[in-house]
Amino acid sequence: MQEDKIRTLAVVGSQWGDEGKGKITDYFAQSADYVVRWAGGDNAGHTIVIGGKKYKLSIVPSGVFNPNSMNVIANGCVVNLRKLVSEIKYLAENGYDCKNLRISNRAHLILPYHMKIDELQEEYRQGDLIGTTKKGVGPCYQDKAERIGIRVGDLFGPENFKKRLTANLKFKNELLTKFFNADPFSVQEIYDEYLELFNQIKDLVTDTSLLINNAIKAGKKVLFEGAQGVMLDLDHGTYPFVTSSNPSAASIPTGCGIAPRYISNVIGIVKAYNTRVGTGPFPSEITGEVADYIRETGHEYGTVSGRARRIGWFDAVLMKHSLRVSGYTSMAIMLLDVLTSLDKIKICTKYRYQGQEIDYIPSTIAEYNQCQPIFTEVDGWTEDISQVKTYEELPTNAKKYLAKLSEIVGVPISLFSVGPDRAQTILIDKEIF
Ligand code: GDP
Ligand code: IMO
Ligand code: MG
Repeated sequence: MQEDKIRTLAVVGSQWGDEGKGKITDYFAQSADYVVRWAGGDNAGHTIVIGGKKYKLSIVPSGVFNPNSMNVIANGCVVNLRKLVSEIKYLAENGYDCKNLRISNRAHLILPYHMKIDELQEEYRQGDLIGTTKKGVGPCYQDKAERIGIRVGDLFGPENFKKRLTANLKFKNELLTKFFNADPFSVQEIYDEYLELFNQIKDLVTDTSLLINNAIKAGKKVLFEGAQGVMLDLDHGTYPFVTSSNPSAASIPTGCGIAPRYISNVIGIVKAYNTRVGTGPFPSEITGEVADYIRETGHEYGTVSGRARRIGWFDAVLMKHSLRVSGYTSMAIMLLDVLTSLDKIKICTKYRYQGQEIDYIPSTIAEYNQCQPIFTEVDGWTEDISQVKTYEELPTNAKKYLAKLSEIVGVPISLFSVGPDRAQTILIDKEIF
């Protein structure tokens, strides 16, 4: 095939999640033929606002608002069928049908015991809480790596499903009752419920690797929707305070069953400041009046859990790390409007670690916790920017801030966002997708 026919774009969370991936996926999905989620499960919470109406998605790809695009949950994802079926229903009630949804037969199932174990493990960790979303994502990926996971396609063979479920529950129930002092799960109840749920979606289940490869080869526009962010990456994030998948762009080929060369552009979704939900190091974190102002202005409360997000300044060390492991061809700077009215805006340019200035992220939490931010300060702006339609309309200091971010990360900005609505998106580089 001609490689110049490839038209793909990956939307990747560059920080600690919640950068606005849902919004940008929806934006580009308006001209996409396919929108594909490649990792994570319903621990993701993606908010999309269209003409003032807000939608929240956790597992259905954010391309669902374009009736002409095919939406794919690929093999790298973990799927909670209860959540999937309820999200399909929620979308239908809002006028969006999911007939164009496809689910990989190789995606792993999140089962009720995964959620329970997630919750109990968190309680057990006590002081060392990860602050997971308790959606069973970690325990599900754990079973995948252990090679005892049950995949969506296994539900086509009820007998085999029951056999695997029985084998798994034999061990899980021992763990639940003897170690955690919790109630056991019944094979029959899970079996009945999951076959019933599966019945509602089984026509959507297919080999999505074949589907995506055929689409790419046919020159279709394929958009990949990230979940979480690079700093939550199992390998490259702040381990162990991470999720159990690889949100970075590098995992798209495995998560979809496609060749690495099929990813042409990668847009890093970047908050104009920083947030983190859950525990773990966060060198550029701030508390106090400015943090509270940013939290309230940006409505920084978790989409899934409602937890208040921790707030910090833009961290260039983090972004360079994120760029190195995930390779952005351009950046989308999100929530720029939230910084309006701040007198001064800070940017963390380096860390001070044991008396030395460093510009990389140490591998251990013990070392990372010792890193102190070194900030540079720029002037803010007071003009309302939420209605600007072009880069030129931005106040001078907002332009300077964008230019500074681009310069220190070393990546061009292809888009910026000045509000939650689809309409509040300003595309600078019209060629990226
Ligand atoms: P995701 O997980 O990366 O999709 O991000 P979330 O949806 O969890 O969090 C981003 C939040 O910021 C949501 O509430 C969005 O509606 C909102 N948002 C996205 N872009 C902008 C923006 O440019 N300005 C403002 N004020 N809010 C935005
Ligand atoms: P989106 O796609 C922000 C965080 C949790 C916790 C850690 C592990 O909306 O950006 P998990 O339940 O995955 O085992 O939790 O990861 N986390 C997220 N934080 N946005 C997300 O997704 C997240 N998904 C997981 O808070 O710290
Ligand atoms: Mg989110």
